[in-house]
Amino acid sequence: MEQQPIGIFDSGYGGLTVLKEITAKLPQYDYLYLGDNARSPYGTRSFETVYEYTLECVKWLFEQGCPLVILACNTASAKALRSIQQNDLQKIDAEKRVLGVIRPTTEIIGQYTKTGNVGILATNGTVISNSYPIEIEKFYPDVAVFQEPCPMWVPLVENNEYTSPGADYFIKKNIDNLLTKAEGIDTVLLACTHYPLLMEKIKKAMPEGVTVLSQGEIVAGSLVEYLHKHPEIDGKCTKSGQISFYTTDSTDDFDNHAAVFYGKPVKSQHLSL
Ligand code: DGL
Repeated sequence: MEQQPIGIFDSGYGGLTVLKEITAKLPQYDYLYLGDNARSPYGTRSFETVYEYTLECVKWLFEQGCPLVILACNTASAKALRSIQQNDLQKIDAEKRVLGVIRPTTEIIGQYTKTGNVGILATNGTVISNSYPIEIEKFYPDVAVFQEPCPMWVPLVENNEYTSPGADYFIKKNIDNLLTKAEGIDTVLLACTHYPLLMEKIKKAMPEGVTVLSQGEIVAGSLVEYLHKHPEIDGKCTKSGQISFYTTDSTDDFDNHAAVFYGKPVKSQHLSL
């Protein structure tokens, strides 16, 4: 039988934190992970560039047979998902589906806040796109959203400095900045795939009583629900528990870094786009 894995796309390694949670909840499915490491980070790039790169990667995943692709990257979800869903899918294959990580999180964030003040920590690109405030407003019009870009956090993780004292400095700086934007922010979302690796330090820098949400589990739960509600898509996804990994850059680099994000050893293959 032809393999029809669920495609998981990220600009690089970060989406592995999402894949890790997805496979924990749905281990029986097949997955094809693509990290566009050769062109990452996406968080500092323009709308046009992120859209162009993301579309190219989504097309490749479709060509490999994926009936469903998850953009496991906040920046790609913020800057490319809507155009792909609204304009490109019809032209490529109207039967295929692409989902992102923003909607599953914005759908439920209002359930956590008591004060109605929510904080978003993300890359510059995600913050500038304003996707989180726009989406949260649709579900929770009374919730006020305050954003803080954390441009140093992805490089800290990627350069293996995420346990160093330097990391504490930048984490505290951005959290303090966020919390001065409004009184009573009681729920903070880590709206970037890399930030779960900084969770321990983030929790230490956050005042008591603030709930810190990381996306992987939320996205995984939402995928379980989606597949249940859409048997026409679920029926196309093969279920033999296999996972393949592709990177557009060096496989050695990918495998070395990936273990940190995924929690298990990874053996990737190279893709030239
Ligand atoms: N995966 C990206 C995100 O979630 C972070 C890394 C990047 O900027 O490419 O926004």
